[in-house]
Amino acid sequence: MKNSFLYSLLILSFSGMNAQNSEIKSSIKNVETKVDSVLSLMTLEEKVGQLVQYSGSWDLTGPASDLNDKQKETNLKEGLVGTMLNVLTMEGKRKAQKLVMENSRMKIPLIFGYDVIHGYKTIFPVPLGETASWDLEAMELSARIAAIESVAEGVNWTFSPMIDVSRDARWGRIMEGSGEDPYLTSLVGVAKIKGYQGDDLAGDLTIAATAKHFAGYGFAEAGRDYNTVNLGENELQNTVLPPFKAAAKAGVASFMNSFNEIDGLPSTGNKYLQRELLKGEWNWNGLVVSDWASIPEMIVHGIAKDKKQASQIAMNAGSDVDMEGGAYETSLVELVEEGSLDGALIDDSVRRVLRVKFKLGLFDDPYKYNNPEVEKNISYEDHRKTAREIAAKSIVLLKNEKELLPIKSTVKSIAVIGPLANDKDAPIGNWRAQGEKNSAVSVVEGIKNAVGKDTKVKYALGTTLGISEGSFLLSLEINKSDRSGFKEAIELAKNSELVVMVLGEDAFQAGEGRSQAKIGLAGLQQELLEEIKKVNSNIVLVLINGRPMEISWSSENLPAIVVAWQLGTESGNAIADVLFGKYNPSGKLPVSFPRLVGQEPLYYNQKNTGRPTNGEHVTYSHYTDVKKDALYPFGYGLSYTQFEYGDLSLSEVEMNPENNLEATISITNTGKVKGREVVQLYLQDIIGSRTRPVKELKGFQLVDLEPGETRKVTFPITPKMLEFYTANRIWEVEDGDFNIFVGGNSRDLKTAEFTFKN
Ligand code: NOJ
Repeated sequence: MKNSFLYSLLILSFSGMNAQNSEIKSSIKNVETKVDSVLSLMTLEEKVGQLVQYSGSWDLTGPASDLNDKQKETNLKEGLVGTMLNVLTMEGKRKAQKLVMENSRMKIPLIFGYDVIHGYKTIFPVPLGETASWDLEAMELSARIAAIESVAEGVNWTFSPMIDVSRDARWGRIMEGSGEDPYLTSLVGVAKIKGYQGDDLAGDLTIAATAKHFAGYGFAEAGRDYNTVNLGENELQNTVLPPFKAAAKAGVASFMNSFNEIDGLPSTGNKYLQRELLKGEWNWNGLVVSDWASIPEMIVHGIAKDKKQASQIAMNAGSDVDMEGGAYETSLVELVEEGSLDGALIDDSVRRVLRVKFKLGLFDDPYKYNNPEVEKNISYEDHRKTAREIAAKSIVLLKNEKELLPIKSTVKSIAVIGPLANDKDAPIGNWRAQGEKNSAVSVVEGIKNAVGKDTKVKYALGTTLGISEGSFLLSLEINKSDRSGFKEAIELAKNSELVVMVLGEDAFQAGEGRSQAKIGLAGLQQELLEEIKKVNSNIVLVLINGRPMEISWSSENLPAIVVAWQLGTESGNAIADVLFGKYNPSGKLPVSFPRLVGQEPLYYNQKNTGRPTNGEHVTYSHYTDVKKDALYPFGYGLSYTQFEYGDLSLSEVEMNPENNLEATISITNTGKVKGREVVQLYLQDIIGSRTRPVKELKGFQLVDLEPGETRKVTFPITPKMLEFYTANRIWEVEDGDFNIFVGGNSRDLKTAEFTFKN
């Protein structure tokens, strides 16, 4: 993929990155001086105003604050609001900005935030799906495109990327992140931040990014959204925090805290996380926005008795901005005036908000992001092309027996069957920003676009999912009895050479609040699939999904399985590109697929335990009714070609801080077509002062190989890669033996061993 125009844009915007250090330093100083001078002119009320965020009252993701629109308008005029979210139109944003600029004393412009999660108008794969591409350049590019389209509608702040490591397929928000691995999540997060923010927030087409949700939100007990989180220090430091540390280092403009508690303390009120770690140890100077009403939710958590106490706790803990919580605006002034809150904390928070406003260039021109010219220069056609390429890269081929795929041009008839086969909405997924309803290319359309005139393509629905859009009670509405479409679908399958079954999840089955205790094929999909199998076993299962699904029956009984996630606007075309071999699949799972939901949470980088195996006796760590490992492990994905790995060799077997190692492996494309392999490097610290995972991803390379071609792939092994948060409660490398693994997924690996000595 080389979309030349966009790539050059991307590259151009980053070539400035090496600007003279002195220039950078002076511009930082400049911003700080300006921030201080604005701050010195503000009253306490105006300062608190900067920490208040209102929603545009529609498109809500939680209960709206109790202020009516008129009161909100008055507060805007008086400069008592600092930022807004969900103001959808350009006109709306201009109107709100005008209220502030033409009426308030200080005339401090608003920032407009929005959940731009996987595209703005052109929709890209949901983040979990896109991560399956392992292609950081592509992920940066899709964020860049999303930023450009957002700017064209006046958005200058996105609440993305979500970098919550999650290992539980039941959690609906697993679709919004990068899966179960902290290293991969860190890299994707940084790529996204670069894509949104470019190298300079002042750029005309860049927007502020948000690292969320700080922290531990992906560890909700039982995968139930908003649920209690119990995280030990070891897991918190080694698994949950690294992506956030990487985001802070990459200069992300804002952080969002999280709804959950950790060990009895809601993150919104967690001083250690926000003030000591993020703003202290990590020395990060951006702004922390609360999650929607997470400040007053501390009352419900049972930590604060009212909004005033909740505000006091949140402000002390380092939550700078109150998103639609109505707490700061009613409490902070009083708290400071009565001496129960240090005014210096308010000043620090206001500085953080002003800093972002200066960096965005809003003080120079408050209407900078309200420029209709931007839209005129956008080529949505180019964006769609890129979306198609990225979507194809995100597809994961899990099974392909008897080379059923790619579909041969000699196939005369294809039946495309299932509730999602001709569905133009499910692939747009949840958190779709301004992606239009029913705007995706369906699989039927994609296949029809791809076949030659000698191949007949016919469609049958088979069964409906029976889900009404946006429903909060999905499980109650799934079709459980209507088999009226079965007959037609079975007839069609009987009379076709090949069946493409398109099953999976509705657009809103994953996402916020969409936790599920079942992760199989809902409704009558499984029954339909089994009926079709009785009349035609040449079945390619295409899954449209926002989470890992339980597909054990399909894995045992079907010859081919393709995980297509929710791929966005160009979904059907990208799926057809893979089905017909125009793109040789290269995606690898960023998350384990379980055999049964009862295995969740499931992840490859688990601990050994004291009893990992036995086999003869029952008293070891396993299940008595299902194997304990994943059906398809992290990092897994097939290609239409085969890759053969040679032996793994190390430049040395002893390593110390001065003497780094190199691990080298050769890889050969032994098949007939060119293909891309994601070569993965894992390490295991065998003995530590705290127990260590059985393996951890520490590097990967994308390798494109022609048929017959062999390439040597080398990974430098540095001490940084061996560090962990040890019993000394610091990040360091401990002396000892390490295993090193290299291969095409987290299960099938070549190994070697080395020793590290400080
Ligand atoms: C709640 C979600 O948790 C958060 O991720 C989102 O950004 C806000 N609502 C705003 O919509």
